[in-house]
Amino acid sequence: MQVAIVTGASSGIGQSAAIRIAARGTGVILTYGRNRQGAADAVATIEKAGGTAVALHLDLGDSAGFDAFRDSVAEALRTTWSRDTFDHLVNNAGIAQASLIEDTAEEDFDRLMRVLLKGPYFLTQRLLPLMADGGSVVNVSSSAAAATSGLEPGYAAYASMKGGLSVLTRYMAKEFSPRGIRVNAVSPGATRTRLADDAFTRFPEVVPAIAAKTAFGRVGEPDDVGALIATLVGDESRWITAQDIEVSGGYQL
Ligand SMILES: NC(=O)c1ccc[n+]([C@@H]2O[C@H](COP(=O)([O-])OP(=O)(O)OC[C@H]3O[C@@H](n4cnc5c(N)ncnc54)[C@H](OP(=O)(O)O)[C@@H]3O)[C@@H](O)[C@H]2O)c1
Repeated sequence: MQVAIVTGASSGIGQSAAIRIAARGTGVILTYGRNRQGAADAVATIEKAGGTAVALHLDLGDSAGFDAFRDSVAEALRTTWSRDTFDHLVNNAGIAQASLIEDTAEEDFDRLMRVLLKGPYFLTQRLLPLMADGGSVVNVSSSAAAATSGLEPGYAAYASMKGGLSVLTRYMAKEFSPRGIRVNAVSPGATRTRLADDAFTRFPEVVPAIAAKTAFGRVGEPDDVGALIATLVGDESRWITAQDIEVSGGYQL
């Protein structure tokens, strides 16, 4: 059985991706930060549908813990799947915080940097020895970093780091290609998740404005993006690498 690691699967896009990947018969190691219950819910949903999943804690903002996380992954692979390797890595976990450039505190910038760019970079580095040849990586970037999406003031730091992740995707694709590992990014538009401390729940009035700027007339739901992530992990995407696919229902089209 193939095995995929999905970071940040206690809610939102990562939770949907984990459930959809598992539904295709792939074992899933899913991670959570503070929301242990959300991870347990995802495991329960996967098991109820006949799949196999293990939840592990991961703090993506603390690279000093990545070696211990790799050990936990190795242990889970051995005990649950009798394997020494896994096949796919979805670098999904992330945070968002809006502030104008002139108001941004350095510690907030550094926190975003640790989670959004340094985290996926070094987590992938540490997990690579456990990755089987012929697998895939999917990095979750953002349409906020796309040259074609209209810019919203307040997302300079967040979008710059997501832009970095999109560039990193192409370099990973190049460097990992000798091992047959495909690397792609997805760039969601506004998607109704718990991002930014549940911003969609706290500010429901933003939804109609976003829907009005979206060709398909609504905001995205986690499953709109999770479905594509599962497809990119799947064998039908075997000839796709180094791509960054916007998943926004036509935002600012
Ligand atoms: N929603 C959007 O509009 C949108 C648009 C473009 C891109 N994205 C990207 O999509 C990805 C998924 O976010 P989402 O929208 O699904 O939001 P979400 O519902 O808030 O999910 C974020 C996930 O990341 C985890 N996480 C956050 N900080 C972490 C840390 N320091 N260490 C480990 N895990 C951490 C969270 O875990 P806990 O809750 O357990 O701590 C949660 O599982 C993010 O990379 C985000 O930037 C989202």
